[in-house]
Amino acid sequence: PVPPAIDPVALSEIAERVALEAGRLILDERPRDLGVAETKTSDTDIVTVMDQRSQDLLLTRLGELRPDDGFHGEERGGRAGTSGISWVVDPIDGTVNYLYDIPAYAVSVAAVVGDPSTPGTWRPVAAAVVNPLSQECFTAALDAGAHRTVGAGPRRRLRVEDAPLGVSLCGTGFGYDADRRRWQGAVVAEVLPHVRDIRRLGSAALDLCRVADGSLDVYYERGLNPWDLAAGWLVVTEAGGVVTDLEGGHPGATMTVAGGLGNHADLRALLGRVVARVGQEKDH
Ligand code: IPD
Ligand code: CA
Ligand code: CA
Ligand code: CA
Repeated sequence: PVPPAIDPVALSEIAERVALEAGRLILDERPRDLGVAETKTSDTDIVTVMDQRSQDLLLTRLGELRPDDGFHGEERGGRAGTSGISWVVDPIDGTVNYLYDIPAYAVSVAAVVGDPSTPGTWRPVAAAVVNPLSQECFTAALDAGAHRTVGAGPRRRLRVEDAPLGVSLCGTGFGYDADRRRWQGAVVAEVLPHVRDIRRLGSAALDLCRVADGSLDVYYERGLNPWDLAAGWLVVTEAGGVVTDLEGGHPGATMTVAGGLGNHADLRALLGRVVARVGQEKDH
């Protein structure tokens, strides 16, 4: 249950403010000679200096605005809080797009209740996802809806559409581990004949927001971390959509499936059958 002292709308305004500021930073200060600063779990799992700078900015700003809250981000540095609220941030979601200057990356900021480092125990109450290049800003607050603005344009409420799965445009993504990718390739091959088409756009946070605004119909991915998923999850559910794992529970590392009421159920059922056929990741 959400502690009564929490004001999701006020938290979403903070999320929006800091995400816009970090978005400006990664856009305005992207070095011309941007390279890979370090790699993490594999050679393809990259970090740039701007991932770290964006996270540092979010850590500092949220610490000033909400000193009692926890902070849980993708890059190094975090803190435990005392308020029961934590900020779950992806300082650049879509780092590979950012490295290649493909305009599909975002800053993702969510306020969650529960413990974001323990799977299944937390849920988002406020969120903002900002694509600094397109100037799109998606926000959501628990029980107060999801909205999209572009630059200084009007704020529009989002409503998930629910196209039949067979004519749904389906987003997905791939992790950085070679065995996982083989498994994901086998799964996507079995999903492709059952949907309108597949898109791999390169930012899980934006993929989820696209389900909310209808520029994708459904989305699934294995292996997401809380920072990939926290903000976009709330944007979808506040737009009337559904986000779960394969069993209908908390979305996360095993699987995240997003869509409208009907196509989510159909995609989840399809993925259940496909995963049973394709077998375990370690066998690929
Ligand atoms: C990645 C992106 C990508 C998804 C990967 C994520 P990053 O996040 O969201 O679309 O397929 O699973 O790890 O590393 O760019 O923040
Ligand atoms: Ca990353
Ligand atoms: Ca990410
Ligand atoms: Ca990232």
